[in-house]
Amino acid sequence: MKNAAIRIRPISLKDADLVKSLRLRALADAPYAFEESLEKARAMPEAAWQRRLQANVAGEESFCALAFDGDSAVGMAVGFFEQSGSKHACVAALWVAPEHRRSGLATALLGAVERWARAAGAVFLRAQVKAGNPIARRFFEAAAFRPVEGREPAGPILVEREIATG
Ligand SMILES: CC(C)(COP(=O)(O)OP(=O)(O)OC[C@H]1O[C@@H](n2cnc3c(N)ncnc32)[C@H](O)[C@@H]1OP(=O)(O)O)[C@@H](O)C(=O)NCCC(=O)NCCS
Repeated sequence: MKNAAIRIRPISLKDADLVKSLRLRALADAPYAFEESLEKARAMPEAAWQRRLQANVAGEESFCALAFDGDSAVGMAVGFFEQSGSKHACVAALWVAPEHRRSGLATALLGAVERWARAAGAVFLRAQVKAGNPIARRFFEAAAFRPVEGREPAGPILVEREIATG
């Protein structure tokens, strides 16, 4: 990573406010990138944010890493399994603050999700990229993710990379 001051760590139960504010910031900044809308996330009850947090901290089915520049949170990524025991894990909610882009931060966040996914038994890591998000498409291409065959041409593009041997 180009900025040596950046640190990446998994979330803890103390990070409730941080995770919520970062996610809302991501949804406001890049609504074209995510399925969830800012309005829906803003309306979500605190109990639902808590459930998300607890699931991600437990780390069995899902995971969340944050990136910090000093004390400021500047990026996040989530990993999850759509089905228990699946060999496919997914990376989602990947976001880097605009002023920190192009310095390898998302690559480092992806690496954190990949390590979690591999330790949790995944063989492939997948991401859904919305059609109107060419930068994310380029990011995943640069990270050696390739489109999964046999998908509908319209709608989000599913890309994946084998991680078991990585
Ligand atoms: C996509 C995103 C996460 C990339 O974050 P980032 O920290 O800038 O990415 P990195 O610095 O790790 O980039 C790694 C490589 O991806 C490619 N890439 C990233 N951003 C790019 C851009 N704007 N144009 C072209 N290629 C790009 C490049 O190959 C880059 O390597 P290089 O800088 O050495 O050329 C960031 O732009 C973002 O948060 N976008 C809004 C939210 C979003 O789209 N999330 C993804 C949802 S699927």
